[in-house]
Amino acid sequence: MPLKPSRLWPALLVLLAFTVRAETVDRFTLSRGGVALEVSAPAGGVVRIRMGRGQLPEDASWAVPASARRPLTPLQVHRTGAYVELRTPTVAARIDIRTLRTEVLDGSGQLLFDGCAALASAAGFQLRARLSGDDHIFGLGDKTGTFDRKGGSFVMWNSDAYKFSQATDPLYKSVPFFMAVSDGGRATGVFLDNSWRTRFDFGKAERDGLTISGEGGPLDYYVMVGPAPQDVLKQYAQLTGMPPLMPQWALGFQQSKWSYKTDAEVRAIASRLRSENLPADVIYMDIDYQDRSRPFTVNREAFPDLPQLARDLREQDLRLVLITDPHIAKAPGQGYAPYDSGVAQDLFLKLPGGGLYSGDVWPGASVFPDFSRAVVRDWWGRLYAGFVDAGVAGFWNDMNEPAIFNVAAKTMPLDVVHRIASDDFRPRTASHAELHNVYGQLNSRATFEGLLRLQPDARPFVLTRASFAGGQRYAATWTGDNVSSWQHLKMGVHQLINLGLSGFAYAGNDVGGYAGEAPSPELLTRWFQIGAFMPLFRSHAETNRPDQEPWVGAAAQVDIRRRFIAERYRLMPYLYTAAEHNSRTGIPLLRPVFLNFPDVLAKGDRLGGSEDQFMVGGDLLVAPSPTQESPGDYAVELPGTGWYDYWSGRRVAGQRLTVTPTLDSLPVYVRPGAILPRQPLVQSTAITPTGRLELHIYPGPDCRGDLYADDGVSQAYRRGAFLRQHLRCETTPTGLRVLFDSRQGGWAPWWSGLSLVIHGWADGAVPAAVAGTATLATSLDPAQDAAVVLAPDMPGGAIDITR
Ligand code: GLC
Repeated sequence: MPLKPSRLWPALLVLLAFTVRAETVDRFTLSRGGVALEVSAPAGGVVRIRMGRGQLPEDASWAVPASARRPLTPLQVHRTGAYVELRTPTVAARIDIRTLRTEVLDGSGQLLFDGCAALASAAGFQLRARLSGDDHIFGLGDKTGTFDRKGGSFVMWNSDAYKFSQATDPLYKSVPFFMAVSDGGRATGVFLDNSWRTRFDFGKAERDGLTISGEGGPLDYYVMVGPAPQDVLKQYAQLTGMPPLMPQWALGFQQSKWSYKTDAEVRAIASRLRSENLPADVIYMDIDYQDRSRPFTVNREAFPDLPQLARDLREQDLRLVLITDPHIAKAPGQGYAPYDSGVAQDLFLKLPGGGLYSGDVWPGASVFPDFSRAVVRDWWGRLYAGFVDAGVAGFWNDMNEPAIFNVAAKTMPLDVVHRIASDDFRPRTASHAELHNVYGQLNSRATFEGLLRLQPDARPFVLTRASFAGGQRYAATWTGDNVSSWQHLKMGVHQLINLGLSGFAYAGNDVGGYAGEAPSPELLTRWFQIGAFMPLFRSHAETNRPDQEPWVGAAAQVDIRRRFIAERYRLMPYLYTAAEHNSRTGIPLLRPVFLNFPDVLAKGDRLGGSEDQFMVGGDLLVAPSPTQESPGDYAVELPGTGWYDYWSGRRVAGQRLTVTPTLDSLPVYVRPGAILPRQPLVQSTAITPTGRLELHIYPGPDCRGDLYADDGVSQAYRRGAFLRQHLRCETTPTGLRVLFDSRQGGWAPWWSGLSLVIHGWADGAVPAAVAGTATLATSLDPAQDAAVVLAPDMPGGAIDITR
């Protein structure tokens, strides 16, 4: 249709605006000197940079699903002289087209990362950037070394590191992700998506210089602009995925040992947990339940009826988790189904000459599934059918670095051949040098996906020792073969904090220590106290050591351990709410203080307490002694004033406290402004509590809390069977108002009503409380300096409490 002149002008203006507007692209690519570069912005606040010799590397990843790699944010292209600047509202990349040096800036133009890459002519690369003097470095998974990685150099190479120490590197997992946090609390994340052996040097080789180098594979990295540490974690989780919501029982106490060797022994452990009133949810069975250590078999003499055992444990509200290692015994002609079916379908790793690769592990000579093929993962997942039918609740994937005995390298030769056929990878053969670091991640993925296929409505529980970035989508993890020492107890907390800052929110270490001399009763007790606040709370120890269950030792010690395990169960609504939050945001359960209070970093060397203390969720600060074994007084620096003592419920004076440690206590503080849900004590998450839900209110600024509940085990929450509620409190001229935002979801809670415990009710006046039109029962709890209000369940509305 011809346009009338009066209609033509607007059209011309639009056309003009279009031609002067900057060019917009989804991906920007450039080639110089035989090097190809591509920049894209796959998520808000994230830049991805890929470089290759001749051509760009393959666009495929074990860590970042294809959907998260697709560029979402258009880049505006601005060219000035020798530079091209690519901008989104939150992040920009400035490329020097002569050198391909690429700087990443935030939306306001502040330089965050100046990556200068050198690609080797055959394989390998080096990426250098400046490290600012006041940067602290966190992340990199389970690595020990220093808590702040600055000044250290680390290798990514999954390794069976029995009895590792502070100096051992590499360890079990490879998570090539870190965040640099400045003294001002500003954070930038960097993730190198490369599964080969790589090295990260944070100012060790060269002061103020960061060097990332790799022996092979793509130079493919992401820079996340934060600006807060929590923002970086969210950006990283958007790329590599959130941990799924675990079954609630995975947050319960878990008892393990290498090994409970007979049906009778497992039953005795279960009965003792119950007769000692030690709340617990899980018993693990280690390799000795198997026939000759062969995965997916059962020693029928020792365990004549596994389904009956699983049923009887469930009667005691306990669940069974079994180990299933990835090595399959090389047992031709012996009727060992995993070997026979794997060979028949050609599923195992091969030598370059075409023969099966075999290495020694627990069963002796073993072969290894090639988890880089989707068909192999399917087959592996189906191996669980028998155990799932038998009522086994969860599975433990160990030795999946993969660990090989009797060879210096502790793993398989690097030229072992994988035949990748999965995801958006080009089907091709690849060496073990490329797949080594993802072997454990793919093993746990096969288990997780297999379990989900077998029981689509149940939440799988998988525990893995080795993993790679993104592995949090499939499994919880633990820190491997630690040592029963005070130093390990402290170092273990640092490992869990850094794992949480690397996407792995469900992590624990062997409570009591795994190897070495058995723990002293005091060490074991302290480990139980701290373990009660770890995301994964599992007691485990090596074979041929004295018993290490919580009942070992004097009654006084056992009492303390029981008290702390019980406290974890009382706090279950809080922990579970934090877990559900994690499954939507990537923010871990166990956190360094600076993750909640970035300002503390400005306080200098001790990282504002982040090195010695940690937080559970947003509100609880746990402050063990920095020198665990020493009985001396120590200082605790709180991130602000007005905090409360969790145990007494009373406000603590000041910000800097002096603590005199005693064995029966562990200092825990509550953020002023917290609303903490707590429940009546139950011996297992399988038991539904009865009575009231406690809401502990600690008045202060920014007063808020959250409540999440569901059935704890099924996928029904994805279909709306959950309860989510945000709570707030406000001081009023006459007292306090507690506000209950309207509830989401269709899950009916177990509680019959609420018990509001309002701490800091210092004047001792019995309060009066009303909700809507009803007057509520009130009383005082002088011991806790608290007012108590008994209220009906509040799906919405407010309660006014006056003095
Ligand atoms: C590995 C595991 C350890 C387990 C042992 C036997 O060393 O790390 O936890 O007990 O193997 O399976």
